[in-house]
Amino acid sequence: MSIRLGVNIDHVATLRNARGGDHPDPVRAAELAASAGADGVTAHLREDRRHIRDDDMRRLKAEIDLPLNFEMAATAEMLKLVSEIGPHACCIVPENRNERTTEGGLDVAGQQDYLASFIRELTGFGVRVSLFIDPELRQIEAAKSAGAPVIEIHTGAYHEACAATDPKRIADEFAAVKRAAEFAAGLGLEVHAGHGLTFKNVQPVAAIPQIVELNIGHFLIGEAVFMGLAESVKEMKRLMQDARTGRLY
Ligand code: PXP
Repeated sequence: MSIRLGVNIDHVATLRNARGGDHPDPVRAAELAASAGADGVTAHLREDRRHIRDDDMRRLKAEIDLPLNFEMAATAEMLKLVSEIGPHACCIVPENRNERTTEGGLDVAGQQDYLASFIRELTGFGVRVSLFIDPELRQIEAAKSAGAPVIEIHTGAYHEACAATDPKRIADEFAAVKRAAEFAAGLGLEVHAGHGLTFKNVQPVAAIPQIVELNIGHFLIGEAVFMGLAESVKEMKRLMQDARTGRLY
């Protein structure tokens, strides 16, 4: 019945990099998230290193006593870094230099052979691989065929529908996430979800029984400005666990 929370600390690094020094330290944020009940730490090493840097990844692996989920594009450069750092898991995402955040899921169906061999290499390093995909059944089938044991459903469209407070869109986007989770679990895939989740919109997603992990970043770090990081992580976990046991607010 339980559901895990992976805390994405990328935007602590965004804030640090805005001034060019070493404060605030994303590794310290990860420590605090761990002590507040996070079940894992997620960080996205982007090709342009706009937030997290190579050394952050090394320190997260060395200093934090939680599973490290290394988000990355499927490139040779990232493969080499993963082999050196040895994270618990990798989540493969599409990357586009001009995007503000990861705007859509990976097109697994369009590059299945390439991804299958990339997944084999990562698996050979002992890393558990997930693919970040939109809630589309053909992408889930392709993820299964490519040999991924885990998918992470992109909840960005659900988030946007919630932000627009459009009940029909919210219902449609939520139904797509739920259907995708059921379909993926039916194929034997482990199901995660994330992107754009907040205190307001997390509960319906957390209540989907097939979803065993949520990865949440921007909202938690933003909310930390007002309530502190430990409190924002604790509140998110409380909402998730309550949703799991049928207490929806
Ligand atoms: N999962 C993946 C694969 C992501 O790329 C991101 C964004 O970096 C998240 C989850 C978290 O999204 P958000 O920062 O909107 O909570």
